[in-house]
Amino acid sequence: MFLYHAVWIATIFIAFVILFTYLYAMEYVWCVYIKDQVPFVGASRLHKRAVSKYINDNYPDAKNIVECGSGHGSLARYVARKTNTNVIGLENGPFCIFLSRFFSLFSRANFKTINTDMFKYLDNTQNMFDIAIAYLGPTVTPLLQKYDKKIKVLISLNFEVPNLKPVQVVDLKKGFVLYQNKKYPHKLFIYEFK
Ligand SMILES: C[S@@+](CC[C@H](N)C(=O)[O-])C[C@H]1O[C@@H](n2cnc3c(N)ncnc32)[C@H](O)[C@@H]1O
Repeated sequence: MFLYHAVWIATIFIAFVILFTYLYAMEYVWCVYIKDQVPFVGASRLHKRAVSKYINDNYPDAKNIVECGSGHGSLARYVARKTNTNVIGLENGPFCIFLSRFFSLFSRANFKTINTDMFKYLDNTQNMFDIAIAYLGPTVTPLLQKYDKKIKVLISLNFEVPNLKPVQVVDLKKGFVLYQNKKYPHKLFIYEFK
């Protein structure tokens, strides 16, 4: 009897792993080959801690945060929990949005996911954000500087905006992300827009 239950539990577990791997792969293909956009790669624990600490140390009065490309929402939820802020996540990957909303059911963080293309949202919103967080690629991150009237501070994970001088670069001293065969060490690039 025990063996019978164990086999069923193992089968269900394996089925879930296969389903999630399949959906993740499909979403990767959808992002890279159909939408031509940065795919989902989650922020590391180091990133999450460093971003929250940076906000608490340097922008304790920040209230509204937007995460551009919030994926499963784990960075955004962490920041919302550790800082006294409201965070919204802009995401257009269907599987990411589903997981982000699902995980948020079990979290009391002030965080919500908006199903939208981040550029369309930022073009049309009347909201002002104290901080924008982005973990996007080297070509997409610089596009955020045109929202300098809607965003006061940009915290970019690993990718810099080449023609802007950061007010600070925080070197996390460990880890990197590989993007198009180039290593980008874990760093925070902080830009302030006047
Ligand atoms: C590198 S992942 C970062 C995920 C998240 N920041 C985290 O650390 O967990 C980039 C995310 O941006 C999303 N993305 C890329 N381009 C987008 C766009 N134009 N509008 C909305 N989301 C976008 C992707 O679907 C992906 O989930």
